[in-house]
Amino acid sequence: MSEDTISVPAQWRAQHPTTPHIVSLLDYHALYNESIQNPSAFWSKQAKELLSFTRDFHTTNTGSLENGDNAWFVGGGLNACFNCVDRHAIQDPHRAAIIYEPDNPADESRVITYSELLRHVSQLVGFLRERGVRKGNIVTIYMPMIPEAVVAVLACARIGAIHSVVFAGFSAEALRDRIQDAKSTVVITTDEGRRGGKTISTKRVVDEAARECPEITTLLVYKRTGADIPWMAGRDVWWDEELKRYPAYTPRKSWIQRTTCSYFTHPDRLESRKDTAGYLLGAAVTGKYVFDIHPEDRFFCSGDIGWITGHTYVVYAPLALGCTTVIFEGTPTYPSHTRFWEIIQRHACTHFYGAPTAFRLLKRSIEKKDLQNIDNSQLRVLGSVGEPIAPEIWKWYYEFMGNENAAVTDTYWQTETGSHIIAAYAGVTPMKPGSATLPCLGIDLAIIDPVSDEELKGNLVEGVLAIKQPWPSMARTIRGNHDRYMDSYFNVYKGYYFTGDGAFRDQDGYYWIRGRVDDVINVSGHRLSTSEIESALIEHASVAEAAVIGVPDELTGQAINAIVSLKNNHMTETIERDLVVQIRTTIGPFAAPKKVLVVQDLPKTRSGKIVRRILRKMLTGETEFGDTSTATDPSVLGEILKVISCV
Ligand code: WT7
Repeated sequence: MSEDTISVPAQWRAQHPTTPHIVSLLDYHALYNESIQNPSAFWSKQAKELLSFTRDFHTTNTGSLENGDNAWFVGGGLNACFNCVDRHAIQDPHRAAIIYEPDNPADESRVITYSELLRHVSQLVGFLRERGVRKGNIVTIYMPMIPEAVVAVLACARIGAIHSVVFAGFSAEALRDRIQDAKSTVVITTDEGRRGGKTISTKRVVDEAARECPEITTLLVYKRTGADIPWMAGRDVWWDEELKRYPAYTPRKSWIQRTTCSYFTHPDRLESRKDTAGYLLGAAVTGKYVFDIHPEDRFFCSGDIGWITGHTYVVYAPLALGCTTVIFEGTPTYPSHTRFWEIIQRHACTHFYGAPTAFRLLKRSIEKKDLQNIDNSQLRVLGSVGEPIAPEIWKWYYEFMGNENAAVTDTYWQTETGSHIIAAYAGVTPMKPGSATLPCLGIDLAIIDPVSDEELKGNLVEGVLAIKQPWPSMARTIRGNHDRYMDSYFNVYKGYYFTGDGAFRDQDGYYWIRGRVDDVINVSGHRLSTSEIESALIEHASVAEAAVIGVPDELTGQAINAIVSLKNNHMTETIERDLVVQIRTTIGPFAAPKKVLVVQDLPKTRSGKIVRRILRKMLTGETEFGDTSTATDPSVLGEILKVISCV
């Protein structure tokens, strides 16, 4: 192995409270080889071991990547909620399922046991069923990170309804589009939320969105702060008042989900559907082997359940495996920069899973002495997700968060993959700061040369990352747009799933993710589509054309730069600010551009396509722009450069 390798801390295995699920790198390789050579047998065995099926499947998987028609555990049936709640409530009713850490550390945290969780979920199921929610309907959830958000997700899963969790940072307009798209008749929210000491007006946003969603018949409101809020009699009902009218246990009748039921709203408005059993298995297998989760563990994932990280690693993986999930309502810097350490200490977390964007921020302000009184020696595994983690940030994380005692795993995956694709197996895989390391079980990776379209075999190759074998938690379609699903993932390289990321495979077979090769922007680990932001800009009355470019940013990984030209070149003093406001209100504050540049004209090809490649180079300070002959009017470039150098 190369010299930048960090082996698993010697004391890791010795201090393990039980026995790791995989004990050696040899074991990993043996399991991995089995999973690639005989995927059906491997996944069938894992499914039977980790999940409880109500009806056995007769075929492990069918279909191909070429045809984009994969299906898993055909003929079988299971209920995701039964797997995440009932079976643990039966076996170990008093085990904590959820520990809730409120935004303000002075407020009380809450512990919800598996038997309590079953009761809450059952009561919500009773309510939702009475309000007409049935298998296949989509319930929209717009909530802060509180236990009731998890209850809402699980209640949908129990009915076989589809949950569309919209991140509570989305604007009323973005929420409205998603409710309309889902045709939700029931929306679940709170009176308000609290985040980083600030109030978020969840109910007000839903009210505003609902004005254009006449199909909503029920707005269920959980009282989080007790604030005075507007009320629409007949439509709005209080969670606490309603739920107690329903039985604390919903019986077996509605348990079986045969078809695809999980639904994930993506910021890109790309809604993926997954096989319930396949998705849950991906969550459980990666939770068990990558994170080495055991039932006694307290797993703290700081992601929001409005994004896939929260779906899989706040809700489904930890609960399917019957451990305790720690959910945090607030932000890493409130009331101080040591908040994560304090939460981990208070709840004796064994795992922490976060994003490089937060680590970069904390690294700037934390000193060793701030952590003097912290004892987090129970912390076994540290995960990173969302974007590549730079080696110096990796080392800081290993040292400051884990005291060089915990295994670090940089987990590479995507919304569409459902669960980890490349990751270090905690306590097993020798780590290399900056590399996501080795493929996960059942994931057959390929690096493809983007010029020849040929797969590049062997080590020391760089190209586009693809996957050559189906895996259970992969998305099976984009709702209402199967053609887009085929074009985005399967028609790019025939027989492969195309990730959209560039990657390098080093001399040891380790993978280094280089970032997106397409027009996707990743800000603070949130994937945003350039086209959604550009459309929002064009909606502004004075904007003629807009191009959105992701440029490297020290803190957020990438930052959004918007370049616009105005109708009749009608410049106003406030236009830059107006456009930032425009994005904040149509999409949400997290999508706001860091810079807005107003230019006379944008460089275009003869057919009228904006040449983003040139703009990107200009914005990142490159002086060579490559072939500019396709741009209609070369003088345009000079003017843009002038504007860039002025800001
Ligand atoms: C894109 C997927 C899946 C969780 C959150 C993001 C980038 C994600 C890593 C990582 C390098 C990463 C990729 C990927 N990405 N994790 N560990 N190292 N890049 O989900 O919004 O679906 O975005 O995020 O570019 O394609 P997402």
